[in-house]
Amino acid sequence: MKVYAISDLHLTVQSNRLALAALPYYLEDWLIVVGDVGETEDQLHYALSILTRRFAKVIWAPGNHDLWTIPSGNASKLQGDGKYQLLVSICRSYGVLTPEDPYPLWPGASKPTVLAPLFLLYDYSFRPTDVSETQAVAWAEETGVVCTDEFLLYPTPYPSRAAWCHARVAYTEKRLAVIPPSHSLVLINHFPLRQEFVRLKKIPRFSLWCGTTKTEDWHTRFPVSVVVYGHIHFRSTDYRDGVRFEEVSLGYQRDWQQAKGIGGYLREILPGPQR
Ligand SMILES: [Fe+2]
Ligand SMILES: [Fe+2]
Repeated sequence: MKVYAISDLHLTVQSNRLALAALPYYLEDWLIVVGDVGETEDQLHYALSILTRRFAKVIWAPGNHDLWTIPSGNASKLQGDGKYQLLVSICRSYGVLTPEDPYPLWPGASKPTVLAPLFLLYDYSFRPTDVSETQAVAWAEETGVVCTDEFLLYPTPYPSRAAWCHARVAYTEKRLAVIPPSHSLVLINHFPLRQEFVRLKKIPRFSLWCGTTKTEDWHTRFPVSVVVYGHIHFRSTDYRDGVRFEEVSLGYQRDWQQAKGIGGYLREILPGPQR
């Protein structure tokens, strides 16, 4: 029995939708879905109706695209936390675990292993020290870079996305703090926990929308063995302080080879590679 992960299925892309329907069955295994499934609740329904039939258990964390409020079509017009809570309720209707549920223990390891889906967002702190928070978006705009979140991801009822991020960080810290140090923890968050993993050579100032410096030391502060993330659309495996960091994105059509199928992009998280 294994735990696999994938993120950034981006089901707005027709070929990604078709590829998901062709995914083989992994009936003994669990799947972690790390955000950017799509942009509408219909796309989340589509994904979960397929994935919950393919895997023994599915664990979900939201991405920024999932939280968008799409102005046209029949998608929900709920904003911010309202959209998030709608997505959580859809997950629960399929038995899929979310960042609002008790963290599950994976039974396949000798050591108690906790899988923790998180929703932390970003706070524009991935920026140079000489750029202030209020100047940050203008600093990115100087290079023609503005994340669509600025127009479609509402922070409602929080005053800003940064304030929402800080509330999520505080909520999550409290929950992680009670996990015994004897346990092994897998942290699952759409955004990278450390700025060094924001590998965006062509659009470096997009880093603003990629995470928060508040999580820089979480991999050593908590008993973490693996961190699973996406969002960057740059697949990678790194080790820091003995902790494995896995960027597991699929991405847009140009980001992956359709001939390999989505199965070819599932990353084994547990038991994982032997070192
Ligand atoms: Fe994405
Ligand atoms: Fe994303």
